[in-house]
Amino acid sequence: MPKLSAQIASAHVTTVRLNTSDSVSLDTDALVVGIHSGADGPRPAPGAEGLDAALGGTFAATLAALGAKGKPGEITKVPTLGALPAPVLVVAGLGDEPGEDGLDLEVLRRAAGAAVRALTGTSRVALALPAGTAEQAHAVATGGLLGAYAFTRYRTTGDVPEPVTEVTVLSAAEGAAASVEQAAVVAESVSLVRDLVNTPPSDLWPARFAELVEQAGAEHGLSVEVLDEAALREGGYGGIVAVGQGSARPPRLVRLAYTHPEAAKTIAFVGKGITFDSGGLSLKPSASMDWMKSDMGGAGAVFGSIVGVARLGLPVNVIGYLCLAENMPSGTAQRPSDVFTSYSGKTVEVLDTDAEGRLVLIDGIARAAQDDPDLIVDVATLTGAQIVALGWRTAGVMSNDDELRQEVVDIAAAQGEAAWGMPLPAELRKGLDSAVADIANLQPERWGAMLTAGIFLREFVPEGVRWAHLDIAGPAFNKGEPHGYTPKGGTGAITRTLVGIAERYAR
Ligand code: BES
Ligand code: MN
Ligand code: ZN
Repeated sequence: MPKLSAQIASAHVTTVRLNTSDSVSLDTDALVVGIHSGADGPRPAPGAEGLDAALGGTFAATLAALGAKGKPGEITKVPTLGALPAPVLVVAGLGDEPGEDGLDLEVLRRAAGAAVRALTGTSRVALALPAGTAEQAHAVATGGLLGAYAFTRYRTTGDVPEPVTEVTVLSAAEGAAASVEQAAVVAESVSLVRDLVNTPPSDLWPARFAELVEQAGAEHGLSVEVLDEAALREGGYGGIVAVGQGSARPPRLVRLAYTHPEAAKTIAFVGKGITFDSGGLSLKPSASMDWMKSDMGGAGAVFGSIVGVARLGLPVNVIGYLCLAENMPSGTAQRPSDVFTSYSGKTVEVLDTDAEGRLVLIDGIARAAQDDPDLIVDVATLTGAQIVALGWRTAGVMSNDDELRQEVVDIAAAQGEAAWGMPLPAELRKGLDSAVADIANLQPERWGAMLTAGIFLREFVPEGVRWAHLDIAGPAFNKGEPHGYTPKGGTGAITRTLVGIAERYAR
């Protein structure tokens, strides 16, 4: 598997290994096992066999003394005092013993992630969690690697504990090696997206983002085209130009294409890449602005997923469009009531310069349609209304095709990424009527604003093109405490789902 470019790779990279040896005799700095909750107290999960004997029959009493119940998310640290080569034992709760459907893979990912997070400062961690199938080994690797993520690039004092450097998955399952390797590639893509989202906007602006894509493209055999502000103006990309014109750092449209000789399908991903969203002249209040470096999370996910698809060598063609601009107020910024002509030819009245994501996306979507893809998926931190409707963690999925919407929701669920289908009610379209142009970028009332944003985008999807839209305003950035395998800050949300979509359309 080709390595990730040093330029774009996370400052900290955790390596993963697969080991089939006995967990209790393993030379490691910490050993992680699972327990299920049971009526008569917690019960060791697969992977924890042999542990009780190695601890001289004290495991149950130790857990009872520490109040461990085996609930999902529960982490209990136990010193082994020489009973095992590993000085620390971490016991991760996995909930009720699995029924007929088997163990919930997301519970497993989160347990692995929480355990590794609890071990920050430890060098080598061995995960002896249930991994009797390749799928389970994949989940353990994914959770462990994503839980080990840390954004360390701007730390200078050395008083922050070092992230875990090596995660070992213990599994003897058939196919585990390939499955763990796939998990590692995808986790590196997610980490890349997290890094980009976490990078302060002073160090990540449209032209810089485009440069990083060019470097990665050269490394992974992607063809990359970058349109600068002159080319965008010349090419009629009115939306990207309008949003970017207020910034001293001009906009870019990046097209990156991965092609495979045996591909039967071509899919297009379009990402909102606002490297900072101040709101423009319709300025945001300070409290809503300090995390708007995350407003390029959609473009990040598109970039990261395509690097992943290329490294995996999937037999499918994937074209990504990154709609990059910085939304700033200035003497050259667009004004509320300005009208521009979008790439599609339709005119748009800008009633609120803070509804800028949809303005850059419509140019990307209209351009993507010219590649004649089998489907277009756009990903965007588009509306605060998404967070009102679905909360911080669940993405909204909208589409002009009911089957495609369900397909995206199902693919996300299989990756453990929360996403929920949302309608595009016809009656909301009239709220976008403009007094002067073909359409306005804002509806007068606040209700259903996630859906109206979706309806606005749909107006720019040509007839007969299958299109889905993911609003990840909440999921892209974790303002709260870390949980499971999700750190504070950039999450890399929907990157795994995009890789999953590419897998679905691969031969
Ligand atoms: N980038 C924001 C949406 C957003 C909000 C993302 C919170 C992440 C967290 C977007 O550009 C925006 O400002 N949307 C406005 C639109 C409104 C003016 C119609 C919003 O949702 O408030
Ligand atoms: Mn905005
Ligand atoms: Zn925005």
